[in-house]
Amino acid sequence: MKIAILTGGGDCPGLNAVVRGVTKSALKKGWEVIGYKDGFRGLVEDRHVKLEDRDVSGIIIRGGTILGTSNTANPFAYTIAPLGSPDKPKDLSSLAVSNLKKLGVDALVAIGGDGTLNMAKKLYDRGVAVVGVPKTIDNDLSATDVTFGFDSALKVATEAVDKLHTTAESHHRVMILETMGRYAGWIALRAGIAGGGDIILIPEIPYRAEDIVAAVRERRSRGKNFSIIVVAEGAKPEKGEITVSKVVNGSHDLLRLGGVSYKIAEIIEKRINVECRVVVLGHLQRGGEPTPFDRWLSTGFGAHAVELIEKRRFGRMVSFKNFACTSVTLSDAVGALRRIKPDSQEVLAAIQVGTSFGNSRLTRKLPQFPGSQ
Ligand code: F6P
Repeated sequence: MKIAILTGGGDCPGLNAVVRGVTKSALKKGWEVIGYKDGFRGLVEDRHVKLEDRDVSGIIIRGGTILGTSNTANPFAYTIAPLGSPDKPKDLSSLAVSNLKKLGVDALVAIGGDGTLNMAKKLYDRGVAVVGVPKTIDNDLSATDVTFGFDSALKVATEAVDKLHTTAESHHRVMILETMGRYAGWIALRAGIAGGGDIILIPEIPYRAEDIVAAVRERRSRGKNFSIIVVAEGAKPEKGEITVSKVVNGSHDLLRLGGVSYKIAEIIEKRINVECRVVVLGHLQRGGEPTPFDRWLSTGFGAHAVELIEKRRFGRMVSFKNFACTSVTLSDAVGALRRIKPDSQEVLAAIQVGTSFGNSRLTRKLPQFPGSQ
């Protein structure tokens, strides 16, 4: 048996732990393992390395991916020169399939987010034996309770909230922390709750300028002369749009979000005599070593992917449901985004401890935290 691994899309902590988990489990069964370099780019360009035990030994702690990745390499619409062209994407999926055949690869493990899993599904539809592993710091895949990378990003964001508290308090300022997460607010919500943020703004609860200002004023009326606002990059006003920072051609999702926190600062400084400062946390959330939870989850995912291959259960993605590894079909995996429900227990709990979500009209209508009256 010969299997291949690739890591696609944006990197995140825990990728190496999955590569290690897959490789070690497969080697133990006497299988051969190769890794494609730079995601689907390496598959199309036929660039790969053999993975032995020594190659994956000690990498569980390392962030990033030893295999490299690409967020623009799509075998079905290839835009990277010299094989493709940015103006005229080429369908090089046949080349990808024949490269796998040429090497004698029996199964491919594709580790990535929505984009990578979409391409993996298409390759499966073309007859390739594929197993997917869900990765993203955004935690927004509906077919799994959690993705690896999220906990590590959350740790970075929570530490940032903690650190901002002391400087905000000393200067009597409003500090605004912008987190990643695309169209879901998981990092902002959980870091905001864990760090005791005063206002949390997420895409799932569009904000109203007057309510953000009212929340800061209300704190000041209680003698709290500083406020911490945690805002997800995808947050948007009730009657407005998300803030786009750039467009990346060839990427699965062309839009890169960012900059909404500067709009929030402007809203507040225009109406209240208070200094605001903005911190956009950016790629720090994706860097560095994975947390113990992410190393544990990634190891379980890697081992489970090999089990799926052994049982020839292809076209599936490993997932984590009710505190156990299981799997779903790739078609189920790539459909819907997992976003925060405004009436979820964690949002209600945050409201109960006094957190504002910048939209009193909406949050007033929500039920009480279960059990409280
Ligand atoms: O999907 C992961 C993610 O980090 C998002 O949270 C963020 O919006 C985006 O990727 C950033 O992408 P890039 O690395 O291309 O700037």
